[in-house]
Amino acid sequence: SLPCDIYAAAGTPCVAAHSLARALYSSYNGSLYQVQRASDSATKDIGLLAAGGYANAAAQDSFCAGTTCIITKIYDQSSRHNDLTVEGAGGAGAADVGAPADALPVTVGGHQVYGLEISAGMGYRDNSTSGVATNGGAEGMYMVTSGTHVNGSCCFDYGNAETNNKDTGNGHMDAINFGTECWFSPCYGQGPWVQADLENGLFQSNAGYSTNSSNTGTGALPFVTALLKNNGQDHFALKWGNAQSGGLTTTYSGSEPTNASGYSPMHQEGAIVLGTGGDNSNGSIGSFFEGVMTSGIPTDAADNSVQANIVSVGYGGATGSTGTLTPGSEISLKATTSCCTSDYIRHQNNTAVVSAITSSSSALDKNDATWIVRRGLADASCVSFESRNYPGDFLRHYNYQLLRQPMTGTTQFRQDATFCPTTGKSGTGTSFASYNYPTKFIRHYDYNVYIASDGGSNTWDSATSWTDDVSWVVSAPWAP
Ligand code: AHR
Ligand code: AHR
Repeated sequence: SLPCDIYAAAGTPCVAAHSLARALYSSYNGSLYQVQRASDSATKDIGLLAAGGYANAAAQDSFCAGTTCIITKIYDQSSRHNDLTVEGAGGAGAADVGAPADALPVTVGGHQVYGLEISAGMGYRDNSTSGVATNGGAEGMYMVTSGTHVNGSCCFDYGNAETNNKDTGNGHMDAINFGTECWFSPCYGQGPWVQADLENGLFQSNAGYSTNSSNTGTGALPFVTALLKNNGQDHFALKWGNAQSGGLTTTYSGSEPTNASGYSPMHQEGAIVLGTGGDNSNGSIGSFFEGVMTSGIPTDAADNSVQANIVSVGYGGATGSTGTLTPGSEISLKATTSCCTSDYIRHQNNTAVVSAITSSSSALDKNDATWIVRRGLADASCVSFESRNYPGDFLRHYNYQLLRQPMTGTTQFRQDATFCPTTGKSGTGTSFASYNYPTKFIRHYDYNVYIASDGGSNTWDSATSWTDDVSWVVSAPWAP
């Protein structure tokens, strides 16, 4: 059974079910989302490959070929039709823009589909819903998100919010928040934390702050299940888990906030928000793969079954081929200069470097040195390199240096992250020309990685050993 089958069988049916990636009911065979292309503003609904299956991402790729698309609508798979559209202006933020449709490729169930990557200024909402809890009603919700694409700004939320895009007071929201914003000190560790946005506060407990010093957040887990349930009267609970393995951990289960009035009972208004705060505070970033809201509080057993289903579909798994430049393949990129033949391109502190990776390297080092080949973000006949362990982050140059950064959708980013493979300049392996600086190639220099020309004004353009430094062996991926 899929998540909404599980919740229905438990007597707490979904009243909203959103995903760009997959069906959340085994019988669902409708549209998942709508894209709009820049070239002619035409729109297209993207559906499933089969009932209860995975998104038909190829339909998006062909509709958006040669142009770019944004996501304009995320359909509710429940019979409530609580579809999300791009959020309008609110008390704290100007109208949002739609997320780029190709920013977050991800493999689920062996199929390459897309997630939703929210940058600052993006968000989705439905202010006129059906079946969603209001005024002290009970509800549950979860989303699958990522611990690698977060910030400390307000407020990457999914759940219940105000119907007028304004902060109308304590208890007028009941949404999952995920990020590194510590609203009530102390917070422990670096986060990101799964929190409850109950309006005018991101709560880890009834006191606001975490009452548990071992709740240090999820860390940089690529895929996270985040869960909130609230009976609307006197109790709420927070849970999270690794969406790729294992079960859920409860970080809080107890009374509504007692630090201020207005939360017990709750005063939910029943709108649904995704990617911003209740008042459209939209400085936050985040990733969204799937999420549902229920009517009534789901049982812990149902939550556990939902987590088991999420784990079973294998978010972030490999798509197929390895060690080739075919999109979907996972690779490592090995240097060929005699100094450095055990060195691979890896990210470290958000920057690309070359360093030695061996079979005894840590899992983190191996993952950092593994890249998923994607269709070139600026030109599908070239390639882009997505980080294996930071979904939606790509290698891009900036001031000619290679960095690992989240795809924002701008033309600048797309061009900076696109590389065109050609025979290795030394006669060995492959060289990668920068799409927007075609005489500059991916090069290691002093263990950093740049786009460099064969002689030029920057130190890393040095002609000495240039042909070797720009020649790479496309290798089997280090990540398991
Ligand atoms: O509760 C945190 C945030 O505070 C809400 O999301 C927003 O409406 C307000 O600014
Ligand atoms: O890396 C060279 C240029 O530096 C990039 O195109 C741009 O993003 C930055 O200004």
